[in-house]
Amino acid sequence: MAGNSFGTLFRVTSFGESHGPAIGCVVEGCPPGLAIDTPLIQAALERRRPRLAGALSQRSEPDQVEILSGVFDGRSTGQPIALLIRNQDVRLIDYSRLDRLFRPGHAEYTYWHKYGINDHRGGGRASARETAARVAAGAVARHWLEQRYGIALSAWVACIGELQLPFRDAAELARSPRFVADASREEEVEAMLARHRADGDSVGARIELLVRLPEPFDRPGDAWLDTLGRALMGVNAVKAVEFDEAPGELRAWIAVKPTPSVHLPRRTIDKAGRPALLMTRGKRDPCVGIRAVPVLEAMAWLALADRVLRERASGAC
Ligand SMILES: Cc1cc2nc3c(=O)[nH]c(=O)nc-3n(C[C@H](O)[C@H](O)[C@H](O)COP(=O)(O)O)c2cc1C
Repeated sequence: MAGNSFGTLFRVTSFGESHGPAIGCVVEGCPPGLAIDTPLIQAALERRRPRLAGALSQRSEPDQVEILSGVFDGRSTGQPIALLIRNQDVRLIDYSRLDRLFRPGHAEYTYWHKYGINDHRGGGRASARETAARVAAGAVARHWLEQRYGIALSAWVACIGELQLPFRDAAELARSPRFVADASREEEVEAMLARHRADGDSVGARIELLVRLPEPFDRPGDAWLDTLGRALMGVNAVKAVEFDEAPGELRAWIAVKPTPSVHLPRRTIDKAGRPALLMTRGKRDPCVGIRAVPVLEAMAWLALADRVLRERASGAC
């Protein structure tokens, strides 16, 4: 298995490249009878789209999801649910030079080294565009777990660089364009991001994720942490996950590295292994940790759906 599938009983396989015709996923294991429609998934995708005009992405994609299978008369049938998002804003010309040079710290080198061939356009399969498919699948998992079990989950930016951003208020988090749970800190955060943007540099972040688990799942053991940890570590740019658990509650802190493409000249190699200098151009996001928040939530929902199905299958609840 090449790491494109997550989960055992609630299982998602994603496909597609940044500059191919489409990205998408197949969700298997969703119980039958769940009310599912396009707006439900679309709302989740909206949360993943850049919330700050001009600041956070090189392209503008409408991310319109199409449900191709597994839903009949507005309800899941228990069969594979295929979700498709067509790529529309694809500018091939931007990436011609990256055909020859690898972005340091970016996963595209690994793909090329491993397979001897890769779609380099916009990072190809290693592009975080793939995370839209995970967010779409996560919306299905979330809907089931909220409806059926009343499980609740939320994530926010707890730290950017050296700025500590403790949780203050859920309503402020819901309104925040940067997933910060304290409106009084927004300006400070924006000033820090602006400084990194102006310097052509990037900065890491720590995301905090809180899961509330009602009975019969209120005493999650290590198996839950194992499932969640694998899912969260599978998100682009995530480098570490830390957990804490208390009855009915699970907390995770997720470390996200600084954006690898920076506007500063960096030493790299070409496909022949010769040293070279590379400087990424164009608009870029100084902190991918911000946009990672809805992706991490989606992966947590998917991991929880899988865990719940596995607990049920083993007769533990
Ligand atoms: C939401 C999100 C957006 C990202 N956007 C970019 C980006 O614009 N430029 C970039 O170089 N990396 C970006 N990344 C990071 C890369 O996808 C990833 O870190 C890189 O391919 C190296 O992967 P690895 O550190 O997980 O091995 C983004 C990551 C996430 C989660």
